[in-house]
Amino acid sequence: MKQKTGLITIPALALVLILGAVAADEIATLRGGTPIAEQAELSAIPQVVDTDIRSKRNYPMQPPLIPHDTRGYDVNLKVNKCMSCHARQRIEESLAPMVSVTHFMDRDGNFLAEISPRRYFCNQCHVTQTTTRDVTENEFKDMDELLEERAVSEQDD
Ligand code: HEC
Ligand code: HEC
Repeated sequence: MKQKTGLITIPALALVLILGAVAADEIATLRGGTPIAEQAELSAIPQVVDTDIRSKRNYPMQPPLIPHDTRGYDVNLKVNKCMSCHARQRIEESLAPMVSVTHFMDRDGNFLAEISPRRYFCNQCHVTQTTTRDVTENEFKDMDELLEERAVSEQDD
């Protein structure tokens, strides 16, 4: 009995090792297969999209993408650069869209006089875009596209 388990474990172990080696080769890294000890060829720093054109939202709850550069915009204990334009009191001058009412709500749904601490760190949710290829393939489909596909497949039935 003892011997039998031994016989099974060795091939199983070998298989695990082989599969492990294959998986390690296929891990997607930003180094693109360059060995750790070597310096990969440097790619250009991608340009931040700074068109000032508000982009489409992919679903109703999406935090809108930032259509302008934010380099050097500090958000810390003392200052919030974003609010210097996006605060209620600032939009007349800045012509920026005001942070929406949800940004004033606490977790119980009460409206606060100031922006809620839950919404203080803007970049947690809002991001800029760069003119570069996607790191991984993106198969996201807009809800409208899904509904259209369903309507077509129901027609076929
Ligand atoms: C100097 C003023 C200014 C500052 C500072 C600023 N913004 Fe803006 N922001 C604007 C203006 C103006 C727009 C409207 C589009 C445009 O002109 O770029 C805008 C647009 C946006 C939008 C798009 C809103 C939508 O509905 O599509 C987001 C999100 C945003 N800003 C987030 C931020 C964040 C986060 C920061 C801080 C890291 C920031 N902004 C700092 C002026 C500013
Ligand atoms: C926890 C995530 C989160 C954080 C943090 C956050 N936002 Fe938002 N923001 C959203 C979402 C989601 C929306 C779209 C739905 C809504 O209005 O609540 C939005 C909408 C906006 C809009 C568009 C408002 C409109 O009416 O078109 C602006 C401008 C904005 N946010 C700016 C900011 C700024 C500036 C900060 C930092 C002070 C910030 N947000 C922090 C999630 C967030």
